Amino acid sequence: MFPKNCWYVACTPDEFAEKPLGRQICGEQIAFYRDQDGKVAAVEDFCPHRGAPLSLGYVEDGQLVCGYHGLKMGRDGKTTSMPKQRVGGFPCVKSYPVAERYGFVWIWTGDAEKANPDDIPHLEWAVSDEWAYGGGLYHINCDYKLMIDNLMDLTHETYVHSTSIGQKEIDEAPVSTKVVDGEVRTSRFMDNVTAPPFWQGNLRTKGLPDDQPVDRWQICRFTPPSHVLIDVGVALAGHGGREAPADKRVNSIVVDFITPETETSHWYFWGMARNFNPQDEALTDAIREGQGGIFAEDLEMLECQQANLTRFPERKLLKLDIDAGGVQARRMIDKLLKEEAGEISLKSVSA
Ligand code: FES
Ligand SMILES: [Fe+2]
Repeated sequence: MFPKNCWYVACTPDEFAEKPLGRQICGEQIAFYRDQDGKVAAVEDFCPHRGAPLSLGYVEDGQLVCGYHGLKMGRDGKTTSMPKQRVGGFPCVKSYPVAERYGFVWIWTGDAEKANPDDIPHLEWAVSDEWAYGGGLYHINCDYKLMIDNLMDLTHETYVHSTSIGQKEIDEAPVSTKVVDGEVRTSRFMDNVTAPPFWQGNLRTKGLPDDQPVDRWQICRFTPPSHVLIDVGVALAGHGGREAPADKRVNSIVVDFITPETETSHWYFWGMARNFNPQDEALTDAIREGQGGIFAEDLEMLECQQANLTRFPERKLLKLDIDAGGVQARRMIDKLLKEEAGEISLKSVSA
């Protein structure tokens, strides 16, 4: 069960630049392509003729052509033609509201009448010249909520990422979790610590010394249905931490869009937006490579965690103070699920 009346990141435009993309999202098989106006289209990945995946076909004049017997599908899910056939009575397949924004394709798998692209969150770092972004995509075999837990509790950095961003002070510093303005916010501040290797590198990039004590911060923000943006950085110690002048700090936003595939797998769009040296493409590549390595460590842990949970579904798990961010995020997801279930039952009563 997934909240469906909301926007998820589905894919990036390069993924269907050459040929249609087939992807399962929230349990639904979907084909993505560009129509005759160059706009992204998304239809159920199921040919009404004999059920072949439409994504195995090709695009011709903005129509999706089934690769089995040549049926042509329009963006509204209606068949437009098929060799030697009259197609007027062919059943429709589902089509999905989609929007291309901020370098991502966003999809709404719920009630299409409720879809409003204005509800896609504003991402200043994606539209401002003062910011640069680099990222990637991992397919991960675990419940998407385990990834939310992971990102809302960075204690794990000390252990999972000990060679890059981990340091002992993370699990020694107190963590506070609040629900503010519709988001879950977990904050941790570590004053007067040694910068870990990842941040030492970023300090050098900005021309700052990498061997002096720093004030470090991590502010994880979850917003429904499954977006986690993490405000992270270090400043030379004693200059105000997160509020330090720009020439005393280096900071960025860890970007995480987490899209369910099945109950035990998801698509993880990860990246980093930074507002230092934004024109430096070599730096963007270097950060992407470093971050990709760090997140591969999470991938391995999470897939093994899911395998254990699948093996022992009856085992009760602990909820500690460090887990509060994930717990609150799950509460928000459960609330959305209840609201959608309520709408469905109201509809069936009035029908
Ligand atoms: S299955 Fe698609 S045209 Fe036959
Ligand atoms: Fe991690």
